[in-house]
Order: sequence, then C-alpha cells, then structure tokens
Amino acid sequence: MSNSKYSTEISIADLYDWKEVCKTASDLLKKGEVVALPTETVYGLAAVATNEAAVAKVFDIKERPSFDPLIVHIASVNEIDQVAQLTDGLKKAVNILADKFWPGPLTMVLPKNENIPDLVTSGLDTIAVRVSAHEIMREVCLDAGPIAAPSANLFGRISPTSATAVSKELEGKIPLIVDGGACREGLESTIILVKEAEPGKKPVVQILRPGPVTREKLREVAKVEKATKTISEGEAINAPGQLKSHYAPRTPLYLFEDIKEFEPEEGKKYGLLSLSGEEDTKFVQAHEWEKIVALSPGSGKASEGAVRLFWALRELDEAGFDAIVAEPVPNTNIGVAIMDRLKKASVNH
Ligand code: TXA
Ligand code: MG
Repeated sequence: MSNSKYSTEISIADLYDWKEVCKTASDLLKKGEVVALPTETVYGLAAVATNEAAVAKVFDIKERPSFDPLIVHIASVNEIDQVAQLTDGLKKAVNILADKFWPGPLTMVLPKNENIPDLVTSGLDTIAVRVSAHEIMREVCLDAGPIAAPSANLFGRISPTSATAVSKELEGKIPLIVDGGACREGLESTIILVKEAEPGKKPVVQILRPGPVTREKLREVAKVEKATKTISEGEAINAPGQLKSHYAPRTPLYLFEDIKEFEPEEGKKYGLLSLSGEEDTKFVQAHEWEKIVALSPGSGKASEGAVRLFWALRELDEAGFDAIVAEPVPNTNIGVAIMDRLKKASVNH
C-alpha cells in the first residue's frame, strides 16, 4: 500500500467535542474506512467487524499475517450476542466476569457467532471480545456496531500508547487518528479463555495473554486454570512460540536476569531500561549508559512501569543506540504482563 494514500488527520477529542469527533470516526468506519481510536490500554486500528473488506484493510495496513485473529470491541455486555454464540452456562460465566471487569482491559475468548466474518478470527470458531473502558471506543461501537481493532502499530512492533506514536507508523495510511490522550493502562488487555461454569461454581478461565487484569484479580471471581496454550501476536494459535519478535523495538533489546551477564563491546552505545532509575541499583551502576529511561522514576513501582513501558521502549529505540539493556521487574501481579512484553521484545526470548 502506498505511504501517501491519505493525508492523515489527527483529531483531538476533548471534553467539549469528543462526541462530534466520535461521529466523524463512526461515519468513516460505516463507509468501510479504517481509523485509529484510543482505548484505555493501547490505541486500536479500527474497522467495522462485519465488513470483511474493511477488516482486510486492517491486515493490509498493519502488514499483519492473516493467521493472527483480531479483537472485537462492543459497547456493552448487552451486545455480546452480536458477536458470540453462548450457552446458558457460558453466559453466566461471562456475566460474572463482565460485572467485575467490563468496561475494562479484559478480553474474553468465546464461541463465535456467524455474523462475524472468518477473516476477523482467522478461521477460528472462537472470537476475542472486550468492552473498552474508554468512552470514545464505546461511543463509536454504539454508533457503528462491533469494531475489530488490533493495536495500531505495524505488525510485531511496539504498541502505541499515544496518537503521536500511531502517526509515526501509520501516517498517510489511514484518514483519521482520534487523539484521546495517553492510554491510562499502557499495556494490552488481559486475554482469557472462558469455560462454562458448573452450576453454583465459579467460572473457569485460562490466561492466554497476561495484562492489566492480573491473575490475582481474576481469582476474586474465577478459578484460574493453568493455560494449555498461550498466545502472542503473530503466532498461529495452534503453533505457539514460532515467531521471533513481538512488541519489538528496531534496536536489539537484551533482558538480563542478572546484570553480570552483560558484556559490553568496545565502542558500542547502550541504553538502559531501568525500573526505578535510581543510582544505587545494580543495573544503573554497571555501565556508563548513554541514556537511562526509568519505568517508574524514583519509586520502581510495577503498576506505574506498566503504563510507561511502551513509551519508554520507544524513547530508547529512537535514540539509535547499538542495543538496549532491560532490567527485569518482579514477576508478580502486573509485573507478569511487563515481563511477558519484555521477553517478547528481547533478542534471546
Ligand atoms: O488491549 C487490547 O487488547 C488492544 C486494544 C486495541 O483493544 N488490542 C490488541 O489487539 O492488543 P492485538 O491484535 O494487538 O492482539 C490481539 C491478540 C492477538 O495476539 C491474537 O492472536 C489474540 O488476541 N486473539 C484474537 N482472537 C483470538 C482467539 N479467538 N483466540 C485466541 N487468541 C485470539
Ligand atoms: Mg498488538
């Protein structure tokens, strides 16, 4: 696709005119166009889910392989029957999970409804669906119907958490980016497989992709089973672990358990992705870094780090060093999702 098919407009949706901006976006979507929309996790590259030609454009613009299915967004749990085909038992499970986590950063994988073209789900008989906590995405879904939207980055690259990050990759390829500000979660939604609940028992789920809704939070309402498969962007669902890089900066990224594993080469420039950026930490002390970007400056909080992760990776990537070294974060709660993205972004994952 030509790089200059469109002159991409970035429309700032503020408190006063956000509904008008949503209307412009929905009108474009209903005409079969593809636009970028904010969600609370990352920006999405949106198309009307029932319009196969529009969905095909999403794959084309992202340069995404057609075996990697999309997430479909709906305005509320009331629209679930438009995209999924649920037994009573599954409906119960979905309602319990939706009561607690929707609108929000949780995607449920459920049996698909026949309204949804096979292209959306890459031929799978399941569909990944969520209700975003961002009012712009929900408003557009109300007007234009279920919206298929993967993250608005080129395939395998860093997910965008601001309109500027979207425009750096997709300028000229789409007519509109709705600028709803920085994404407040900053990491893609948690994806779960939902199983039918036995009467009177908690729903059973498996985490397919860790995210802002942590295992600990899910356990409050569901039994979390060990996943038989996990997924990551670009993997054929039945062949996990095949693709080399996801969420990847162009600069090689090394994730070391222990900074002693790092052997700098003479004359090469290295940037550090640090948790706290504090001078008294081993990673900061280990080398004369060209630049240090802290995920949670001063305090080293994983929850803050999650919000800033993709921004921080872009900062270091754009500096043009020979390599980025990343410090691991504690692998609990939201740290699990950060480590998942860092491993997939790293050279030796
Ligand atoms: O937070 C998010 O989830 C963002 C925003 C825009 O909503 N979306 C997002 O989409 O991260 P994407 O396409 O970058 O990641 C979707 C993931 C892919 O890894 C895909 O393999 C998986 O969801 N997926 C989609 N449908 C699936 C299905 N039926 N079964 C299992 N995995 C599925
Ligand atoms: Mg993605």
